[in-house]
Amino acid sequence: MKKYIAFAAMFTLIIAAAYFSSCKDKKSEPTAGDNKEDSLKKVIERGDYLANHVAACIHCHSKRDFSQYSGPVTPGTEGGGGDVFSNEILDAIPGVFYGKNITPDNETGIGTWTDDEILRAITQGISKKGDTLFPLMPYANFNRMAKDDLLAIIAYLRTLKPIKNKVPERKMMIPIAMAYPAQALQPSVDNNVRPAASDLVKYGEYMATVADCATCHTPFVKGQLDFSRMYAGGNTFHIPKTVVNSANLTSDSATGIGTWTEERFLNKFTAYREEKGYKYDAGNQNTVMPLVDYAGMTDADLKAIYAYLKTVKPVNNKVEKFPK
Ligand code: HEC
Ligand code: HEC
Repeated sequence: MKKYIAFAAMFTLIIAAAYFSSCKDKKSEPTAGDNKEDSLKKVIERGDYLANHVAACIHCHSKRDFSQYSGPVTPGTEGGGGDVFSNEILDAIPGVFYGKNITPDNETGIGTWTDDEILRAITQGISKKGDTLFPLMPYANFNRMAKDDLLAIIAYLRTLKPIKNKVPERKMMIPIAMAYPAQALQPSVDNNVRPAASDLVKYGEYMATVADCATCHTPFVKGQLDFSRMYAGGNTFHIPKTVVNSANLTSDSATGIGTWTEERFLNKFTAYREEKGYKYDAGNQNTVMPLVDYAGMTDADLKAIYAYLKTVKPVNNKVEKFPK
């Protein structure tokens, strides 16, 4: 059991180490439109972009099809929940958790939740009923997001087709209090700022935080994230037919992505913008990284993440992505 205790600490420290420096200087610009309808449309588009292609909300909260490359979302299940996250996939997960139904269905989804209740769940990990959510749902990261980005996501969730799907209760092997990252959470997101896109590295860090690249890519050692080796990779995931280790994303030239050009980095994602890029059975070379979803990120946002990763301390850690 002891190894799970650190789950909370890990989020605290990741945030301290990597995210806390994010964006204290400039206020985010309000999205202005020509008239009320245009600006609402823009807000929903922004929320759609973030929820589907950056924050991976829809990836985790739908049925995923791992008979295809990188487990794309099964069409028609968007936001309906029910997919499983368990210690059979990654042994640092203490039990069995289910992506919840976040569609506007009144009975089984979040149709009756107010914006404030949804905001609290996304940024504080507290559900409408007051239950504490397990931090596998990356609310400690979302706690650093600019409020207009958060409200855009909420506006978008309201536009999802309501799906009637009652998600099973989680089975947790530890008391939730042991996992709740209280110290990492700011009580309010009101002062969060999205750095200007021209501030490439800081903006890239913000996007990487929203996309939560760090948790999968920082090594767990005996169930605890090793902060001295941020982004050094090597976590083992088990999905149907595949055992896959997360890659070393540090700037180490020999074992990380230090020698990767920006173009090579972009290609890792853009190859999956079209169905033919992922509509095939990858067999034992599949991945858990939500590549089909991230592929929808703009080139500019991907380039910013690349620029940020270039600043990450090199760590020599040879990872066999697909162990023999
Ligand atoms: C890595 C997967 C993952 C990602 C990414 C993720 N979630 Fe979750 N989310 C979960 C899981 C798992 C739970 C349930 C946790 C539990 O049972 O303790 C959850 C719970 C929730 C809840 C609480 C619902 C309820 O009925 O209690 C809401 C709301 C929610 N997520 C919204 C979002 C939004 C919005 C995003 C994107 C900004 C998002 N999630 C991203 C996995 C994820
Ligand atoms: C759910 C876990 C998960 C998340 C989240 C995740 N990755 Fe990955 N990533 C992996 C795994 C596993 C691999 C190895 C298999 C592969 O290449 O897809 C990988 C591979 C990679 C590679 C290829 C490196 C190489 O040496 O081949 C890059 C680049 C990468 N990830 C970048 C990112 C970035 C940037 C983010 C955030 C936007 C991210 N990852 C989020 C699990 C994840």
